[in-house]
Amino acid sequence: INKGNGVKGLSDLGIKSLPSQYIQPQDALINVIPQQSIPVIDLSNWDNDPKVAESVCEAAEKFGFFQLVNHGVPLEVLDGVKDATHRFFGLPAEEKRKYTKELSSTNNVRFGTSFSPDAEKALEWKDYLSLFYVSEGEASALWPCACRDEVLEYMKKSQVLCTKLMTALMEKLNVKEIDETKESLLMGSKRINLNYYPRCPNPQLTVGVGRHSDVSSLTFLLQDEIGGLYVRVNEGKGEDDGWVHVPPIEGSLVINVGDALQILSNGRYKSVEHCVIASGSKNRISIPIFVNPKPNDVIGPLPELIAAGEKPKYKNILYSDYVKHFFRKAHDGKKTVAFAE
Ligand code: SIN
Ligand code: FE2
Repeated sequence: INKGNGVKGLSDLGIKSLPSQYIQPQDALINVIPQQSIPVIDLSNWDNDPKVAESVCEAAEKFGFFQLVNHGVPLEVLDGVKDATHRFFGLPAEEKRKYTKELSSTNNVRFGTSFSPDAEKALEWKDYLSLFYVSEGEASALWPCACRDEVLEYMKKSQVLCTKLMTALMEKLNVKEIDETKESLLMGSKRINLNYYPRCPNPQLTVGVGRHSDVSSLTFLLQDEIGGLYVRVNEGKGEDDGWVHVPPIEGSLVINVGDALQILSNGRYKSVEHCVIASGSKNRISIPIFVNPKPNDVIGPLPELIAAGEKPKYKNILYSDYVKHFFRKAHDGKKTVAFAE
């Protein structure tokens, strides 16, 4: 297919029905539970009311997913990075093509379509630009100028919130201090994706992103006003097991626990499955920041938890091996974590 312009290229042609490579098998589609969702937490009183941090920890334990309002990341910064995302995907195909696997001068900048096209039975209705952060210098030199300044600003301005959440989540586990080792394990590296889900002729037959859980420690997701993100609730609980929509809230951030934090917390915080259904009428964007361990870190249940008498639920594993394992297969649900069991 038209590599330089991805799924957007197809959508822009005005095709009236979904090309067969995008038709997903029945088992990739989800049953949606209406009128339920994940917690929305207002952080305004964070400094004065310990209940706020408590509700964050509870949400991370119970749902693994929550939305934050009044989180302190300025709205102009969020709007800036959303505009920049539209600007990048609106570039001519030749411009975007420069960042494909075949042509990109670095592995840290990658424009692509679908998730792992070679492993997938059916393709995903999504284009993306993925940026692995090394340094400001590298970003200035190598990231596309259509979006680089806004993306960097968003990364910088969300760091305070990240540290705040991590500190509270650790305190709840009786881990009192985030020393250098823990800082590396919890937030030692970052990747930011700009996702573009063009208007889709038959959104119910395909997925924007198939069901998966993230390999991050925490993910900070900024979504626009279109909607389409679904999260799994009550996994394994028979009739209550299902998927709920995450309704867009202007100015909010969606936070979710990833596999790395599930492993580090010895299963206390849950990394849950989620997926995206594209819209039949609008182009949707989303911008996740994946806060990750450093690739060379060895992740396993934190020593404090084992010292307190917990039996380790996961073995120690090199984080880059874990990530490699994730990228070798298609989005087929929450199976990566079994690799560490
Ligand atoms: C993802 O989980 O990969 C993307 C989520 C989103 O676009 O809302
Ligand atoms: Fe995800």
